[in-house]
Amino acid sequence: MIDNNLIKILNQGNILKYNNLKDSNMTKKKMTIQLIPVKKSDCSFLYELLEERNPKANISHRKLPSYENHVKFVMSKPYSNWYIISNKNQKFGSIYLSKQDEIGIFIKKGTQTRGIGTKAIKLLMKKNLRPRYLANINPKNTKSKKFFKKNNFKLIQHTYELLTSKSDTFATKKKD
Ligand SMILES: CC(C)(COP(=O)(O)OP(=O)(O)OC[C@H]1O[C@@H](n2cnc3c(N)ncnc32)[C@H](O)[C@@H]1OP(=O)(O)O)[C@@H](O)C(=O)NCCC(=O)NCCS
Repeated sequence: MIDNNLIKILNQGNILKYNNLKDSNMTKKKMTIQLIPVKKSDCSFLYELLEERNPKANISHRKLPSYENHVKFVMSKPYSNWYIISNKNQKFGSIYLSKQDEIGIFIKKGTQTRGIGTKAIKLLMKKNLRPRYLANINPKNTKSKKFFKKNNFKLIQHTYELLTSKSDTFATKKKD
């Protein structure tokens, strides 16, 4: 027998989700985003993004750096271009293009799967024309693999890694 209470809860869930999207003007079609170059005042937002990152789903960053090291890293201009993905005063995430033409993108939890990543990657490539772009993805990061595939990236290599007893030390020192 179908549980009517369960149906009500499910329905409420769906309606809530729909309203959330509608209220915050966040439907995939309507959402417009800008890429604003990263500045020092973005450090705390970028640190929040780092804190959200799943170490298992990320290749370059296993351990959270200290806030002080993080600020040093941001201010060292580590990438060709690094942007905050935003809409007016709301920050959704960050996207960069490395000096080796690798793209890194991070959308804040709660604003993922709304088409923001897709718009940001298109805008990044439009602003930074290159003969090709790369993306280093952890094979365990299924949604990221789907995301890049959907955006026409093709798998070109599998890279194997051997971690040594020194890996922890390096992970804290390593730049992103
Ligand atoms: C991966 C990421 C950038 C995608 O950005 P997003 O704004 O959520 O993605 P979009 O809404 O533009 O989705 C585009 C496509 O990506 C795939 N995708 C996105 N989120 C997904 C999820 N949670 N599960 C499965 N596929 C997903 C889908 O194919 C989707 O297309 P669809 O909506 O037609 O199904 C974002 O989820 C993120 O920042 N994740 C954490 C950090 C990370 O892993 N970054 C990549 C390392 S560089």
